[in-house]
Amino acid sequence: MVERKLLVLFGSQTGTAQDTAERIGREAKRRHFQCRVEALDSYDVANLINELLVVFVCATTGQGDPPDNMKMFWRFLFRKNLPPGSLCQLDYAVLGLGDSSYPKFNFVAKKLHKRVLQLGGNPLLPAALGDDQHDLGPDAVVDPWLLALWDKILALYPLPPGLEIISPDVRLPPKYTLHYLAEDSPHPDGGLLQPTAPRAVPSELHPFAAQLVSNQRVTAESHFQDVRLIEFDITGSGITFSAGDVVMIQPQNCPEDVQQFCQLLRLDPDRRFVLKPTEPGTSLPALLPQPCTIRHLVMHYLDISCVPRRSFFELLSYFSTNELEREKLQEFSSAQGQEELYSYCNRPRRTTLEALWDFPHTTCAIPPEYLLDLIPRIRPRAFSIASSVLAHPDRIQILMAVVRYKTRLSKPRHGLCSTWLASLNPEQGDVRVPLWVKKGGMKFPTDPDTPVIMIGPGTGVAPFRAAIQERVAQGRRGNCLFFGCRQKSKDFYCQAEWEELVTKGFLTLFTAFSRDQRRVSLQEEKVYVQHRIQENRRLVWELLSSRNAHVYLAGNAKQMPAAVAEALQLVLQLEGGLSPSEAEEHLTALERSQRFQSETWS
Ligand code: 2AM
Repeated sequence: MVERKLLVLFGSQTGTAQDTAERIGREAKRRHFQCRVEALDSYDVANLINELLVVFVCATTGQGDPPDNMKMFWRFLFRKNLPPGSLCQLDYAVLGLGDSSYPKFNFVAKKLHKRVLQLGGNPLLPAALGDDQHDLGPDAVVDPWLLALWDKILALYPLPPGLEIISPDVRLPPKYTLHYLAEDSPHPDGGLLQPTAPRAVPSELHPFAAQLVSNQRVTAESHFQDVRLIEFDITGSGITFSAGDVVMIQPQNCPEDVQQFCQLLRLDPDRRFVLKPTEPGTSLPALLPQPCTIRHLVMHYLDISCVPRRSFFELLSYFSTNELEREKLQEFSSAQGQEELYSYCNRPRRTTLEALWDFPHTTCAIPPEYLLDLIPRIRPRAFSIASSVLAHPDRIQILMAVVRYKTRLSKPRHGLCSTWLASLNPEQGDVRVPLWVKKGGMKFPTDPDTPVIMIGPGTGVAPFRAAIQERVAQGRRGNCLFFGCRQKSKDFYCQAEWEELVTKGFLTLFTAFSRDQRRVSLQEEKVYVQHRIQENRRLVWELLSSRNAHVYLAGNAKQMPAAVAEALQLVLQLEGGLSPSEAEEHLTALERSQRFQSETWS
């Protein structure tokens, strides 16, 4: 009989693609497939030529880039020397997850689909293009696509005789079994956060426990936003970086949430356990010490503050002994219930912990071995590095806005990582933060004479602070910065540093204080960086046309990037005499040749 093996490979940045891949894995198990679900970069890609059936689930991030955990695979797949027919035995399907408000919507999925086809693969279906912008989320596309996919797959690999699809009423076994240890075995807590002796360069699997040096508020107390300049000591870590690189920080839950969670689930935080995979070949979760305490698991691993996904409610419904709760959970996990789930979860940004509060009868019946199936792991957060080693040896600094906003829920929402970091006080002993560094998308010119024009409103200025420090340390001039904030007296951070550099002739600075203007009737006249670019278009044009300047943009992804691009196009039109379409093409060409680079975040 033909082996019924399915491989699901994912590239996931925020966890949605992984969640979808795992869902496909569960659906495959219900259809009696031997199924493996793996991150693309954990998979030995040379084996792809032996695979018969693969579903790829890939997110597209930033400017059409593949997620971090598929970057190696991506490079391999586009090697020129791969023979055209090498994947001719492979039946495949690609499920893409993207956001149509970004320019290169689902670029990775589309490109992957095409490339596998080119290498001889047989597509089972056209690629699915899930969209975050859809009212009902990506599942609006994913659900019907998956139904069609299972039809195709079961036509090729029918169910073995005598077997039926395992009904959704039956609960699948957990990924790991959890075995509590006796009270007196050695204590593991804290192992993760001990300063590690330098071995390989720190990475996601081996973060460096960096000491917190300072944590300073750089906006006025009266300002609406709390922005911090935070410094870490990385002495002995082996970390190297340059301007444009990014530091990844692994946050943790706050002790109050951990305590509440344990109370709700009736877990003893001090109990210790070891995990064992249910199926041979499944690896244990990286970053979890073994043995581990419940406290450590909840504090450092389970993302109880993320917005719960559909799969969470689906699994939760199996534990419910309360009829009302079970009905609600089943509705949330059904295709028809997605609109309601969206208004319950995403609109108010309800956390997993809050959702558990709403289902108390079910929550106290959750078997602890299902915790790792139920709740995703805490994701690391990326921050543009805001300092240069040339100015601050053995240090990494970040500029971080503390995320806090209101929804219709009465309790304000807090960003997990920024709230945690802001709460840390270096004076309270040896405070450590797990981190590692990753190459950033922005590259600054190596030629010492190439000037740079940097546009960074708000914390968008972070990578430019690193670049300016680096370039000034190398004695380079030709640094032009457009900085925007609300008020000179409230959030003009790093003011003294910039002014010193201006005085020394290293920096040309243009500031846009959006809320320092006189109010003209009810209409507030806001001045933004794009207005300053237009006012100074002669200089911008001169730098671009005769000095080959590179242009960089960083900051909030809402309307700002498009408005800045428009301002740059206007410069090209008014000073360079280009037509609107020529100006647009020119800017695209600058982008292609990496003379215009941007990094935006939401
Ligand atoms: P605002 O909050 O007064 O609207 C950093 O956040 C700065 O970016 C603030 O001065 C903010 O102004 C400004 N900003 C907001 N929207 C912008 C846009 N579309 N383009 C450029 N700057 C913007």
